[in-house]
Amino acid sequence: MSTVQDALQALTDLTPGRQQLLADAVAGLSRAQRQLPSKYFYDAHGSRLFERITHTPEYYPTRTELALLDLVLPDIARRVGPHAHVVELGSGSGRKTARLLDALHQPVAYTPIEISRAALLSSIELLAPALPHVEMLPVCADFTRPVQVPLPTRPAARRLVFFPGSTLGNFAGDDAIALLRAMRQTMGADGLALIGIDLHKDPALIEAAYNDADGITAAFTLNLLTRLNREVGSDFDLQGFRHRARYSTARLRIETDLVSQYEQDVHLDGRTFHFQTGEPIRVEYSHKYTDASFDHLLQQAGLEVVAHWNASDPAYGLRLLRASAQ
Ligand code: AVI
Repeated sequence: MSTVQDALQALTDLTPGRQQLLADAVAGLSRAQRQLPSKYFYDAHGSRLFERITHTPEYYPTRTELALLDLVLPDIARRVGPHAHVVELGSGSGRKTARLLDALHQPVAYTPIEISRAALLSSIELLAPALPHVEMLPVCADFTRPVQVPLPTRPAARRLVFFPGSTLGNFAGDDAIALLRAMRQTMGADGLALIGIDLHKDPALIEAAYNDADGITAAFTLNLLTRLNREVGSDFDLQGFRHRARYSTARLRIETDLVSQYEQDVHLDGRTFHFQTGEPIRVEYSHKYTDASFDHLLQQAGLEVVAHWNASDPAYGLRLLRASAQ
C-alpha cells in the first residue's frame, strides 16, 4: 500500500539549482545565435500554463495521444506483461500515466522523473490514492542527465520507460540521440519503452498548435523571462520580447523564438547582453517525425520498434521500443 505520504518520503530531489540556471542562461545568451533551454519553461507557473495549452482547441497532440492510448492500451499491456516498473520521463500532470498504470497487469512501481517539483507533487497526489498497490518512487530531476532509478521493494519483471507527449521532439540532433541512448540504459536489456511522437502534417495545423488564439503558448514561452528575472536577477523587459513559432518544412520542426521588439540591453550576473531590433532568442524546438526519420534516430541510439500505432487525423504515433542486438 503506497500513500501520498510514502511517496513524498521516497522522493529523490535532484532539481537543478539557481547556479545551473544562471550558468545555462549566461552560456545560451552569450552565443552568436542566442538560445535558452526549453526545460526551464517548467517552473510552477510554466507547468500550469503547459497544462492549459494541452486543453486549447489548437494543441492537438495531447488529446490525439490520449485517444490513441485508449485504443491500444490492451495491446500494450499484453506486450509488456505483468509486474512492470514504469519509469516516466517528464511526467507532467500524470493524466496519461493513470491510464497506462490502470491498463498494465499488476505494475509494481512507478517512478516519475520530472524537473518541476510542483508538477511532480500534484501528479503523485493524483496517482497514489488511485493506485494504492503501485509503489510510488518519484524523482525530481532533469531527465536529460543520468538519473539513478530507485529500486522497488518488490522486484519488477522488467522496466517500461514511458516517454509520451512527443517530448523527444524538444531535443535536436545529437541531444535526441543521447536521450534515446540514456533511455536504452534506463530500460535495461529486457526492458521496453513506450514513446509518443508527433508526426509531420499540414504545416498550418502544426503552426496553429504553437500560436493558440488565446495567447497561452505566448505566455508560456515569455514566462521563461519572468523566471530568469525572479530567480537569477536579470532585467528582461517583458514587453520587449514577443513569442514567434514557425514551422520549418526543411527541418520538420517548430522553431520557437522570443524576438526583441527594439534595440535594448539586458543585464545578467554583471554582464550586458545587447539585442538588436528583431533579434531572436531560440527557446524551443518541437520536432515532428516521419516513420523514416524516426527509424533513423532509433538506429543511431541502438533501439528498434517492437510495435507501432498511428492515429491518422491528425497524424500522431506511439511506438513500443526495445534495445536492438548490437
Ligand atoms: C512538452 N512538449 C512536447 C511541448 C511541445 O509540443 O513541444 C511543449 C510545448 N511548447 C509549446 N507548446 C507546447
